Amino acid sequence: MNDTGLVGVQKTLSPVLRAKALDNRLPDPILGDTWAEQAMRRLDPGYDRRRFGTSQLGLAAVVRAKVHDDWARSFLAEHPDAVVLHLGCGLDARVFRIDPPATVDWFDLDYPDIVELRQQFLPSREHYTLIGSSVTDLTWLDRIPRGRPVLMVAEGLVPYLTEADLRRLLTGIVEAFPSGGIQFDTVAVWAWRTSKWDPTLRRYGTQFHCGFDDPAALAQWHPRLEFVDEAPMNDSPLLMAKAPANTRRIFRLLNLLPGMARSTRIVRFRF
Ligand SMILES: C[S@@+](CC[C@H](N)C(=O)[O-])C[C@H]1O[C@@H](n2cnc3c(N)ncnc32)[C@H](O)[C@@H]1O
Repeated sequence: MNDTGLVGVQKTLSPVLRAKALDNRLPDPILGDTWAEQAMRRLDPGYDRRRFGTSQLGLAAVVRAKVHDDWARSFLAEHPDAVVLHLGCGLDARVFRIDPPATVDWFDLDYPDIVELRQQFLPSREHYTLIGSSVTDLTWLDRIPRGRPVLMVAEGLVPYLTEADLRRLLTGIVEAFPSGGIQFDTVAVWAWRTSKWDPTLRRYGTQFHCGFDDPAALAQWHPRLEFVDEAPMNDSPLLMAKAPANTRRIFRLLNLLPGMARSTRIVRFRF
């Protein structure tokens, strides 16, 4: 099997998974995700044998994953009875990396085809449910237990939603649960507007559908929603500390371009 079985936006899971797989080969990895290496090999057995196949330029996405993991761990430490909604999960092994206690119920959601791939490539576990659905069809929320704190994690998903769909999703979650955390990443307006010319996204037959220059302002969408903070990605100290020297140099140069360091923003909210 190679990733040609995926269509459109589903293909975007592949470069992120490859980045996580390659990170695991660094002497001192950022994420150290062995599941990513195994799943990537199943998805595309020759992924590291093509031109630039072992380039570490995807490491910024691994930093993003690490931020989401760290934030999720700290939320779960404070709310061991939480329900986790991991939306647009792709083939990411977050539930195994975090390994939450049995008091947490974890839901991974992506399109039905991706859920099928996950079942082939990754093991299952207790207190874990896979939901095959578009995130925008909010009927999936009816399957989630209520009355407990909720954590929504969406890594690399939000730019593929329209602003209207994102608003329905966030307000729908705030309305459905007594309290919670919401963490995701967004792209800047310029990155959204130019995404239709992005060669990788063009090849995948997709593009971004929203972007925000002030993602903290999304807290205004619901009176109970409050912006917490933001973490760096392209200019993250972790990236600069762990990336191989040639990758580090490229990121330093790229970050000199206006708007590049904040082209993706990792943000969290609470309610
Ligand atoms: C860039 S990938 C990120 C995958 C994973 N979160 C990670 O970081 O490895 C985006 C993922 O969002 C999923 N996705 C995009 N739009 C979606 C939608 N409307 N409903 C469910 N999943 C969606 C894609 O199928 C894909 O798996």
